[in-house]
Amino acid sequence: MAKAIIVTGTPGTGKTTVAIRLAKKTGWKYIDVNKFIAKEKLSEGYDRKKKCKIVDETKLGKALAKLVKTSKETLIIDSHMSHYMPAKSVNLCIVTKCNLKLLKRRLKRRGYAENKMKDNLECEIFDTCLIESQEAGHTVVTVETDKKVDYDKIMKKIKK
Ligand SMILES: Nc1ncnc2c1ncn2[C@@H]1O[C@H](COP(=O)(O)OP(=O)(O)OP(=O)(O)O)[C@@H](O)[C@H]1O
Ligand SMILES: [Mg+2]
Repeated sequence: MAKAIIVTGTPGTGKTTVAIRLAKKTGWKYIDVNKFIAKEKLSEGYDRKKKCKIVDETKLGKALAKLVKTSKETLIIDSHMSHYMPAKSVNLCIVTKCNLKLLKRRLKRRGYAENKMKDNLECEIFDTCLIESQEAGHTVVTVETDKKVDYDKIMKKIKK
């Protein structure tokens, strides 16, 4: 059995909330990918316009697969880039989703600039993370974080 559950989705849709809750419920290990990128020195500069680190997704996917392979524990990997991991290393891919009005409110609360807000809303409108996850061959379950999250339903999707 592959030992990773990945949580992907547009920024602000609730990945961290879902991943941490799931880690608490299962006792599996939560992995904050931003910390992993810093620790493994995987970022290649800073995009000033987008105000985010530049990361090669394929390289990150491979590094995460290696982490999974060498870990004794089941990992819950929280990142909007986690679906770049090879499908064979992943048990279940959770894609968080949120209605646009609420997402806009959440991102505004963070003080996102107009262009960053637009990029993220477009990402959600076009289901970018969901489609990329499906195309990568992951077993996908979508979770709407504007409703009560059914963790039992998620647990049932995990391959034994
Ligand atoms: N199931 C939920 N019910 C209510 N509020 C939620 C839920 N999930 C997330 N939220 C709220 O939405 C906001 C964003 O959630 P969170 O930080 O988990 O998103 P994220 O996808 O991890 O974002 P990022 O990609 O920037 O790390 C938070 O304020 C959080 O409290
Ligand atoms: Mg997060």
